[in-house]
Amino acid sequence: MQCDQSPDSQPDQPAAAGPPDGSESRGVSRRSFIKTMGVSAAAGAVETALVTSAAEASAMQRRDDVETLGPQAVALTLSINGTPHRVSVEPLTPLVEVLRWNLGMTGTKTACGRGACGACTVHLDGQPIASCMTPVIDAVGCEISTIEGLGNGDQLDPLQVAFIKHDAMQCGFCTPGLIMSSKALLADTGKPNMETIRKALCGNLCRCGTYPNVFNAVLEASGQPVPNDLNTDNGKRGG
Ligand code: FES
Ligand code: FES
Repeated sequence: MQCDQSPDSQPDQPAAAGPPDGSESRGVSRRSFIKTMGVSAAAGAVETALVTSAAEASAMQRRDDVETLGPQAVALTLSINGTPHRVSVEPLTPLVEVLRWNLGMTGTKTACGRGACGACTVHLDGQPIASCMTPVIDAVGCEISTIEGLGNGDQLDPLQVAFIKHDAMQCGFCTPGLIMSSKALLADTGKPNMETIRKALCGNLCRCGTYPNVFNAVLEASGQPVPNDLNTDNGKRGG
């Protein structure tokens, strides 16, 4: 026979054994215990509901305070290479598209479009980011640095000079991204060793395979000797 273990099927019994002398038991009955717990649980549920309602009200209040932008085009101001630029774009447009298509800054390349190749690398407040994965709205209020901002007029940045000296490009499609990543590395590290350079640039893909020359260019730009340099008179040359 299977026992019915529902609470109401049991007669009221003291939860604890009574005193051996037969005096009145001070134990808590099973039924009163369950009733007490039920009231406590209900009180807890009411309290939780009140807290949840208060949290929801607070969240709604915050939502009311937030300005909603888009999805249609909105006017935004971007600070790029120290100059403010006014654009009218949808807020979720990738930053690289705004740079290239709205502002004509085609130095920043777009290739994979999904954060995998580094061709679109620019700086946001000095940090290298994939601009194909960055909604333009996230760049508002930040300083955006692109390859066009390096150097000074006709005077190239030392990194650009080193890339040329070490023949660190073939088709050049990856080069702006590699230079921007290298620039951030040198600003952060000063004189990185080869291992650090390799790790810092591992997110920048070069289908032409110029990596050894790129690494040497970064060493050169950081003022360090370049071992086995094939592009200077001091280096070893292939036979
Ligand atoms: S185009 Fe942005 S990471 Fe490849
Ligand atoms: S130089 Fe061609 S992809 Fe790097």
